[in-house]
Amino acid sequence: MHVSIVFLFVSTFIEVQSRHLGELICRQCGLSITRQSELINATGVDEEQLKYKYEFPLVGKNTSVHVLKNPAGEQFHVFGAKTANLKFHGPAQLEATWYPGMQWTICLCKSCGAHMGWYFQPKTPFTQKDQKSFIGIVLDNVISADYSDTLTRTPL
Ligand SMILES: *[C@@H]1O[C@H](CO)[C@@H](O)[C@H](O)[C@H]1NC(C)=O
Ligand SMILES: *[C@@H]1O[C@H](CO)[C@@H](O)[C@H](O)[C@H]1NC(C)=O
Ligand SMILES: [Zn+2]
Repeated sequence: MHVSIVFLFVSTFIEVQSRHLGELICRQCGLSITRQSELINATGVDEEQLKYKYEFPLVGKNTSVHVLKNPAGEQFHVFGAKTANLKFHGPAQLEATWYPGMQWTICLCKSCGAHMGWYFQPKTPFTQKDQKSFIGIVLDNVISADYSDTLTRTPL
C-alpha cells in the first residue's frame, strides 16, 4: 500500500515536468508560444542596426539574442524561432527591417493580444537565396513554463 502511493506521486510529478519541458509561454496570459525544438540562431541581421548580441541559455539551449531598436527608439532583445503559436497583425512591411531582404509582420499572442514579436519572410528579389522565414520573439515577453510551474507550486 505504501509503495503504490509513492509510485503514484512519482508518475504524476514526471507528467507535470514533461508537459511543459522546454516550453516558452506568454508572460501576460501563459499561452504556449514556442518551445526549445523550434529555437534558431537568427542570421542576416543588419550589423548597422545591431546594438550588440549575446548568447542566452533559453529553456536549456544557447540561443543568439539580437539587441535592436525600432525607428521610434524602442529597444528589443530578439531571439529566433522556426514556428510559434501567434496571430498576425497588419500588413507585411520591408521598411526599416532589421534583417535586410526580409519583410516583417507584427505578431500578437492569440489569447491576450500582447505583442510577442515579428514574422520575418523573404521578399524577392531583395533577399539572399539561403534566407528562410522565421519569427523574431521579444525575450521580455515570454517566460519558461518550467519556471512558472515552480512558482505556482510554491506551498502556501
Ligand atoms: C547557436 O549557436 C551556438 C554557438 O555556435 C550553439 O551552441 C547553439 O546550439 C546554437 N543555438 C541554436 C538555437 O541553434
Ligand atoms: C551555453 O554556453 C555556455 C558558454 O559558452 C556554456 O558554458 C554552457 O554549457 C552552454 N549551455 C548549453 C545548454 O549548451
Ligand atoms: Zn498572452
